[in-house]
Order: sequence, then C-alpha cells, then structure tokens
Amino acid sequence: MTREIPKNLLVTGGCGFIGSNFVRYWTEQHPDSKVVVYDKLTYAGRRENLNDLWDNANLSLVVADIGDMDAARKACQDNGIDLIVNFAAETHVDQSILGPLVFTDTNVRGTHVLLEVARELGIRLHHISTDEVYGHIRDDHQSVETDELAPRSPYAASKAAADQLVQAYAITYGIPVTITRGANNVGPYQYPEKAVPLFSTNAILGEPLPVYGDGRQMRDYAHVYDHCTGIEAVLLRGNIGEVYNVGTGREMTNLEMVDIVLDTLSKDHSLVKHVTDRPGHDRRYSMNVDKLRALGWEPRYDPKQAVAEAAKWYEGNRWWWEPIRSGEFREYYDRQYAERLAGIQQ
Ligand code: NAD
Ligand code: TYD
Repeated sequence: MTREIPKNLLVTGGCGFIGSNFVRYWTEQHPDSKVVVYDKLTYAGRRENLNDLWDNANLSLVVADIGDMDAARKACQDNGIDLIVNFAAETHVDQSILGPLVFTDTNVRGTHVLLEVARELGIRLHHISTDEVYGHIRDDHQSVETDELAPRSPYAASKAAADQLVQAYAITYGIPVTITRGANNVGPYQYPEKAVPLFSTNAILGEPLPVYGDGRQMRDYAHVYDHCTGIEAVLLRGNIGEVYNVGTGREMTNLEMVDIVLDTLSKDHSLVKHVTDRPGHDRRYSMNVDKLRALGWEPRYDPKQAVAEAAKWYEGNRWWWEPIRSGEFREYYDRQYAERLAGIQQ
C-alpha cells in the first residue's frame, strides 16, 4: 500500500551531501510538496549544494540548530510540517576521533529534541541512520535490521544512541517513526573529508592518496541516488515503527575502490600511499537489504559504477570543491594527514 505523499517536509541537514541529493530528488519527483531545509550550515552544510533549486517557490531554508527546540518547533508550526526527515548530523568518523563531544550534542541531543517536537506536534519523523551502528561484521554475515547494535567509534555510538531514542519514543509515546540505515554513500556534493571525494580530488591534483593500514577494509559503496530512492520507498510504503537497511548488499575493499578512482581519472597507481591506520578502524560493513527490496526497491548502480560516477563528478565540478579545499579544510587536512604522509608513526 502506498500512503499519501507528505505535503510539507522539514528536511534537516538538507544542505549536506545526502540531504541535498534527497531534496533535489524529492522536489523533482513530488513537485507539489513543500520542502523546508533546516540546517545549521556547519562546515559540511553548503547552500551552494542546492544553487540550482533556491528559486523554486516550494523550497525554503531555515538556518538553525536541530538542538534548538524553539527554532525547530517554530519551523514546523510556521510551515504546517507533516513529516520530519532527519539527515542533520556530524558525520565523519575521523572528526569524531579528533573531537567527539559535538557528535553527542548534534546526533544524540539534537535528534532527541526533534523527537520531542514531533511528539508535541504529532508529526511523523523519519530518521537517517547508518550501517556503522552494527559495528564491524565478520566475513560470513550480513547485518539484518534486528541485529544488536555494536558501535565502535564515537560517531557510530552517537548514531546508535539516536536510533535507540527514536525506537524508545515509538514504544513509549506511540509516535510514528521510521529509520533507514544507509551504507557508505558516494556521489555529487560529498564533502572531501570522506574517502571517495578525498581520493578523487587528491588524484586530480596529483597528490598522494592516504590509504589507512593495509587498505583491505570492506565497504558497500552505494550511490547516493539509490539511498534517496530507498528513503522514498520507506516514506511512502514502509511500515511505521520499522527499520530498513539501504545499500547494495555488495562490498569491495578500499584498495579496489582506489583502483576504480585512479583508473576512472587516468591517474597513476603510484599515488597510493599506505599510512598509519585509523584507531579502532572497522574492518567490514555489510548489510542485507531484502527488507527494503520487499517494498519494491532496487538499486540502480552497482558499487563499481557508483565509485566511478562519483570520481567523474569531481573531475567535472572543480568549481564546487576547489574553494572548499583551499579554505578551512586545509587546516583539518594537515592535522589529519601531515604526519601520516611524512611517514611518521602515530
Ligand atoms: P554531511 O556531513 O554531508 O551533512 C550533514 C548536514 O547536517 C550538513 O548540512 C550540516 O550543516 C547539518 N548539520 C550538522 N549539525 C547540525 C545541527 N546541529 N543542526 C542542524 N543541521 C546540522 O552528512 P551526510 O553524509 O549527508 O549524512 C547525512 C545523514 O546520513 C547523517 O545522519 C549520516 O549519519 C547519515 N549517513 C551518512 C552516510 C554517508 O556515507 N555519508 C551513510 C549512512 C548514513
Ligand atoms: P570514510 O569515507 O571516512 O567512511 P567510513 O569511515 O564512515 O566508512 O572512509 C571509507 C573507508 O576508507 C574507511 O575504511 C576508511 C578509509 N579511509 C582511508 O583509508 N583513508 C582516508 O583518508 C579516509 C578518509 C578513509
């Protein structure tokens, strides 16, 4: 059964990577529904991700923190919101190792505030989660939605805590919620701290690609387009109260991902540099996505195509990432990689 298209959506984190791709996808598919992007505009939130859409009369932006209850309540009341889709989060594992507290502020407390607003105003909330909440997965298993959560980084722990609050609110207060747990996404507008855009832009610039440890960690690199169609399937046809995994169900090693990036960009493989590993680095993520498939969803891209398409996007869109890389990102890059690339053991 397909339910009615929500009329007025509050998309938190809509200026980030996945949020902006979702806003573009949703406004194309459902032009009559109104979208309010609610975003704090952290370093990862960028108005220009939606430059082509701001003229659309059905799209507006509220710049505010999801942890600000008054601002969130007002945005919902002023716009007759009937669905909150919560993408807003601190999202990078390496940043969570360098400075973890903001991850709890936004990912845990911020989600909690949105749940309170949803409860008070009787609004459905869809929460965007991650496969990282399952922890790293042994070779013969694929995570299913009922698996225990076993997060291993501050980022993953904050996302797992948020999932549990969402589920607790559904049980305790009966508020209508759904959760999707996405695999590693790749595609346009991903901030270049993440592996695929970092490696693509480094390769284009002729800089070394810092591969953590042996590079044999496994990830399901899924195209962000398929994440958007998966979320749409759950919004329109998912069972209230349920969790759905969203990925391709197929993984590759980071070394395989790097090969695709370099081959797509016709760059030399000597750019690869193995560097000191990330502390607590999860070896493997892998999800079973049959539950989402049962809603009639299928991914359009396999992981190899997804990585190649992403690398091509960075090749064709230097206007987007060059200003980022020459700005405050530089400071983070040096902090994260200078010693690693100099070969100094950490
Ligand atoms: P991103 O870092 O690109 O964007 C995050 C967005 O949230 C930004 O626009 C930022 O300004 C906004 N934001 C951060 N803190 C905020 C706050 N306190 N109040 C309001 N807005 C705030 O992230 P992304 O990669 O697009 O991830 C979006 C969601 O998807 C996150 O919840 C993340 O955990 C989840 N997820 C991401 C991936 C991935 O591969 N990137 C995979 C699975 C799940
Ligand atoms: P990332 O994009 O940070 O996603 P996540 O850690 O959430 O999976 O990293 C993807 C993989 O690439 C992960 O195994 C860590 C690895 N990686 C590197 O080897 N080098 C890097 O510089 C980065 C950022 C990641």
